Amino acid sequence: MAAAGKRRNKIAILGASGLLGATLARTFAAQGAELFTPSHQQADVVDLAALDRFVEQAQPDVLINCAAEAHVDIAETDTDRVFRVNALGPQNAAVVAAKHRCELVQISSDYVFDGETDRPYREYDPTGTPASQYGRSKLLAEQLVREACQRHYILRVAALFGHGRQTFVDWVLAKASPQQPLRIVCDRQISPTWTNDIAEQTVAMLELGVHGTYHCSGDGVTTWYEFASAALALAGKNAAGVVAVPDAELQLGGAPRPRYSALDNYLFKLREIDRVKHWRDGLAHYLRAIV
Ligand SMILES: NC(=O)c1ccc[n+]([C@@H]2O[C@H](COP(=O)([O-])OP(=O)(O)OC[C@H]3O[C@@H](n4cnc5c(N)ncnc54)[C@H](OP(=O)(O)O)[C@@H]3O)[C@@H](O)[C@H]2O)c1
Repeated sequence: MAAAGKRRNKIAILGASGLLGATLARTFAAQGAELFTPSHQQADVVDLAALDRFVEQAQPDVLINCAAEAHVDIAETDTDRVFRVNALGPQNAAVVAAKHRCELVQISSDYVFDGETDRPYREYDPTGTPASQYGRSKLLAEQLVREACQRHYILRVAALFGHGRQTFVDWVLAKASPQQPLRIVCDRQISPTWTNDIAEQTVAMLELGVHGTYHCSGDGVTTWYEFASAALALAGKNAAGVVAVPDAELQLGGAPRPRYSALDNYLFKLREIDRVKHWRDGLAHYLRAIV
């Protein structure tokens, strides 16, 4: 365990050009941290030797691994490549972090759970078998990280939105129209999360300095349809731009998704350091910044 309350000054972020990585980089830069944000090419997580060279040179206090293949459907067809990035990548990061004595933050996912529940998942809940190859790759990553690096934080996040790249929210705002409404699934339960909140929570988690597995998602539970409707309402757009469709009727193809994957940030709540807003408040903050 790290000394509680210790501030880490040297932070390295893998996948810093991505949605969450970019937000973390902005947050730690604003805090005055010395930042290392190598590109995919400069530190490919699949390449153990390249990653080792990078960490040896940078000597960070904390290595944050946001690098991933986050497209769930791609993992169903390009499975071995995705397991290399999403499972071997974190294992490599963990091996290198242990060798160079830095802490590791591994970003995980709500999709590690099988979805067979009716209340938000807490950290102690068994995952079951994830519904998708993506979920299995993220679950294997957790296991490999725990084995390879004692000083780890595994942070399970869910249904992200924020600045950086287009997400579900931006797509809905761009495409929804009453003439050609978007058909949105209405019976899958999620806990959408603003990336800024995850970054604030990561800072608080590192300050606490207690290693382990944490849930970090927006408070509350919703469906993709309700989430889309809320985005339209908050942006002052016509609610008729989306229609509710049950999963069984939607027939989108692609990867199977869990029926229920909302998370409860139970450990952060017990520690009284839960910084993540209700998903609707996070959404309102995000939309105020972009609309
Ligand atoms: N997005 C969500 O809703 C969601 C939900 C739950 C969990 N998560 C997890 O949250 C984390 C961040 O997701 P995100 O949505 O921010 O992802 P993202 O926007 O797709 O970004 C992924 C990042 O990883 C980099 N990357 C990919 N392969 C790499 C490799 N082999 N070596 C080094 N870098 C590599 C990408 O760089 P290039 O673009 O240059 O390849 C990019 O910077 C991931 O662990 C994901 O599984 C995301």
